[in-house]
Amino acid sequence: MTTKAFVIGHPIAHSRSPLIHGAWLARYGIDGSYEAIDVAPDALAGFFDRLRAGEFAGGNVTIPHKEAVFALCDEVDALARTIGAVNTLVVRDGKVLGTNTDYLGFLGNLDAGAPGWADSDEDAIVIGAGGAARAVLVALRRRYRGKVHVLNRTPANAEALIGQIEGPFTAHGFEAFEHLAPKTGLVINTSSVGMHGSRFDWLDPGQLPKTALVTDIVYTPLVTPLLAEARSRGLRIVDGLGMLLHQAVPGFAAWFGTTPEVTPALRARIEATL
Ligand code: ATR
Repeated sequence: MTTKAFVIGHPIAHSRSPLIHGAWLARYGIDGSYEAIDVAPDALAGFFDRLRAGEFAGGNVTIPHKEAVFALCDEVDALARTIGAVNTLVVRDGKVLGTNTDYLGFLGNLDAGAPGWADSDEDAIVIGAGGAARAVLVALRRRYRGKVHVLNRTPANAEALIGQIEGPFTAHGFEAFEHLAPKTGLVINTSSVGMHGSRFDWLDPGQLPKTALVTDIVYTPLVTPLLAEARSRGLRIVDGLGMLLHQAVPGFAAWFGTTPEVTPALRARIEATL
């Protein structure tokens, strides 16, 4: 019988997940399907009835449902609760389990693009304090040895965030960059700044050590102004597209029983749609 998975959102046409999972289904010759389904907020509970009835092995959840599905899942794991969002559902024995794979996507992307990145005692700077920052902090807490500074336009939001996720974290406004920069080995932009060519006028990558790594979760454009400036200073960069690809791996493995590989060919295929 065909194993079925989905991504639900509203709207959903923009999602690249069907392309990613479709490519893997074809590559591994799996009798499965992955479809984008537009589910309006008032239809979400009804969709969960279909899940419990066994129509799907599971799927992904995107905007605006990532928080609303909490109340509908039979179980939400500790990780998704800490991150405050569910992006992946797995159906087992008529129960819907919710988890979050964004933090694994972040780690998988850096492991592939900058091997050894976490073996540093230097400080890290995380820019932004929204939902994406939460997943990044959870990831850093697991793997990064150095101290982590969260810089945000509204410092109170950074304070609130580090109050909720325990770790070696401190909160600051953007003005802290200048004095933190010389001892910083890793900079991660988790804010939407960088989309469509916007940039931080206070962030000069030239103030970072020459060995620093700069990464961005924004991938439209693939090389954000922050990454372009870092690269022109000779710093290592990792773009955000890999995070999208790597976050899809655990879901595919859970629904279809095969752990898929993020290959350059898959990346090129998705890159062509940006
Ligand atoms: P997400 O859940 O996708 O991370 P979010 O919760 O809206 O998105 O968070 C957006 C983050 O980007 C916040 O840290 C926000 O800063 P504030 O807390 O000050 O709002 C940051 N952000 C958004 N637009 C920004 C801008 N133009 N300049 C600086 N920071 C910005």
